[in-house]
Amino acid sequence: MNSTHTPKFKNPRAEHNFQGRTCSIVGVGLYVPEKVLTNADLGKMVETSDEWIMTRTGIKERHIAAKDEFTSDMGAQAASRAMKMAGVTAEQIDLIIVATITPDMPFPSTACLVQRKIGAKRAAAFDLEAACSGFIYGLEIAQQFIMSRTYDTVLVIGAEKLSSIVDWTDRNTCVLFGDGAGAAVLQSRPNSHGLLTAVMGANGEDADLLYMPGGGSRCPASHESVASRQHFLHMSGKETFKSAVQAMQKAAEEVLRRCEVNISQIKCVIPHQANRRIIDAVGERLGARPEQLFVNLDKYGNTSAASVAIALAEAVASGRIQRGDLVLLVVFGAGLTWGAAVIEW
Ligand code: ACO
Repeated sequence: MNSTHTPKFKNPRAEHNFQGRTCSIVGVGLYVPEKVLTNADLGKMVETSDEWIMTRTGIKERHIAAKDEFTSDMGAQAASRAMKMAGVTAEQIDLIIVATITPDMPFPSTACLVQRKIGAKRAAAFDLEAACSGFIYGLEIAQQFIMSRTYDTVLVIGAEKLSSIVDWTDRNTCVLFGDGAGAAVLQSRPNSHGLLTAVMGANGEDADLLYMPGGGSRCPASHESVASRQHFLHMSGKETFKSAVQAMQKAAEEVLRRCEVNISQIKCVIPHQANRRIIDAVGERLGARPEQLFVNLDKYGNTSAASVAIALAEAVASGRIQRGDLVLLVVFGAGLTWGAAVIEW
């Protein structure tokens, strides 16, 4: 590795002969729609209260996309901001990965629609479906292409219009989710380490804990599927909560172990923003101090694949993360899926 200083951590990638090749996040950006839906607004729609939502989840408000604003629009906005920060033009992008569970339509991919919107004519493009874990899955996949020298510049986007699949009459779920997008531009940069390691995991045995039954090959759209509310997200909250805490702890411990760092060396822990109680429980189990945890779900709710991407962009913009800092990302989502990554910023 072309490092100018002696690192206080192990770079697991350095065990392979990458000859100075690294995978750095060179630009990040976020976009959230203008409209804000507060807990008080929700109290007028279903039987709930600001007090219940705040104490059970930590969410205060969320952003909701306009009728004519789609996942690809939000993804393209976040991507443009990340590209600006990276100093990268649309023509330089080799690959676009969009992580989402709310694509504009089943096909073509939202990544192709983003490609058209940002004018990245040379880029290959595909969508990735790993629910809330999608952004870390995307970073790890992008990293494979960069380290193998297949591509030099990869755009990873997490974007969701969850308001389009939320049942606005179901108080168990509608209070939890919001819309938005986050993006990252990845390149190899000399004298940096970038993405040190990542883990991805899945357990399809628990696929029924969080799912949307309608709209796929198993239950195509029909009068019956619409009438029986199959085109909305369904969730077993308590079971999801327990699995989330366990899986996130395990994934985070694995990446810390691989990098031979302890939690106190991590400047900022960016967990999936689903529920404040999940974040606190994971932080406590990892031995993280509260000030190490990055939390913005009070403003955005759970934006699934966009969640960690938005949080990372916000942490950078606010100065919480500086060049050289170690950052831990840790996620969990439907599938079930999970993941964690350590980045030297
Ligand atoms: N307002 C008021 N009362 C409510 C509401 C609401 N919005 N929602 C549920 N309740 C009621 C329930 O009906 C229940 O009443 P009952 O006891 O009379 O039946 C009571 O509150 C308690 O409900 P619980 O389910 O026990 O509440 P819990 O403390 O488990 O919190 C929650 C629910 C917030 C959903 C929690 O379980 C959770 O956050 N789970 C994880 C969810 C998650 O992270 N999902 C996303 C995964 S990521 C992805 O891939 C999208």
